[in-house]
Amino acid sequence: MEYEKWDEILAPYNNAVEELKVKFKNIRKEFLTKGEYSPIEFVTGRTKKISSIMEKAKRLGVKDIENEIEDIAGIRIMCQFVEDIYTIVGFIKSRSDMSIVYEKDYIKNFKDSGYRSYHVIIRYPISSIAGSKEILCEIQIRTLAMNFWATIEHSLKYKYEHFIPENIAIRLRRAADAAFLLDQEMSEIREDIMKAQVMFHAKSVTLIDILDKVKQLHSLGEHEKAIMYQEKLDKIDTQTNIIQIVAIKKEVEDLLEKYENI
Ligand code: GTP
Ligand code: MG
Repeated sequence: MEYEKWDEILAPYNNAVEELKVKFKNIRKEFLTKGEYSPIEFVTGRTKKISSIMEKAKRLGVKDIENEIEDIAGIRIMCQFVEDIYTIVGFIKSRSDMSIVYEKDYIKNFKDSGYRSYHVIIRYPISSIAGSKEILCEIQIRTLAMNFWATIEHSLKYKYEHFIPENIAIRLRRAADAAFLLDQEMSEIREDIMKAQVMFHAKSVTLIDILDKVKQLHSLGEHEKAIMYQEKLDKIDTQTNIIQIVAIKKEVEDLLEKYENI
């Protein structure tokens, strides 16, 4: 095929890659603008090289390149945590500007190589002066650790011209498992941090509530009791658990209740 013909075929794919990169980067921007955590860390994209398309077509015995090669347009989305991957898949599902053809969960079903990522093949409409057409695009969603591994494994595959010696392949599989363990550890730390944040919030809300009730004791003339509880509050530090704080709150509430009944 002449190169001008390739330019024409690849133009919509180039456009799709550019558009989709912008769209996913904008999701990140939206979260950051709101001051929220972004499940997207960074986004890359590429149009497959002509030589790779021809090599793949030959390897698979493909005639209809545009319908049978799904990764001419490719987007890669990197995230911090494994959970984020599924959040992003949810976003893709809910969008009306792209439709999912199929998904491959290489996280739950990781490859023999050790490769992990979530792949989504989408159909994406692209408009040009010649009209509108739908193209296929492969979106790979992975954590930073999965990306680190895949990048290195990919370059080794090139170095060994796709024939990685068995002893190295074994070590790569071990490295992939280690990378996944890192992801799981990080997820657990994240959960602990989130739980700690919820607990911190609960404690401070309760403390404010008790302070307010101590003020009420003062206004009712119960200065001695108010000072006693004030002292108890002063002793509370980060080591005091929520149950102890709630117990103090209950005592003060019981005291105040007596006044309500008068
Ligand atoms: P190709 O692998 O692209 O020929 O087609 P396929 O139909 O087998 O799709 P598959 O889902 O297996 O892989 C698609 C893409 O995922 C590849 O082009 C790579 O970018 C990536 N991938 C899949 N397996 C591996 C792997 O073992 N190592 C690395 N580094 N990347 C992989
Ligand atoms: Mg493959």
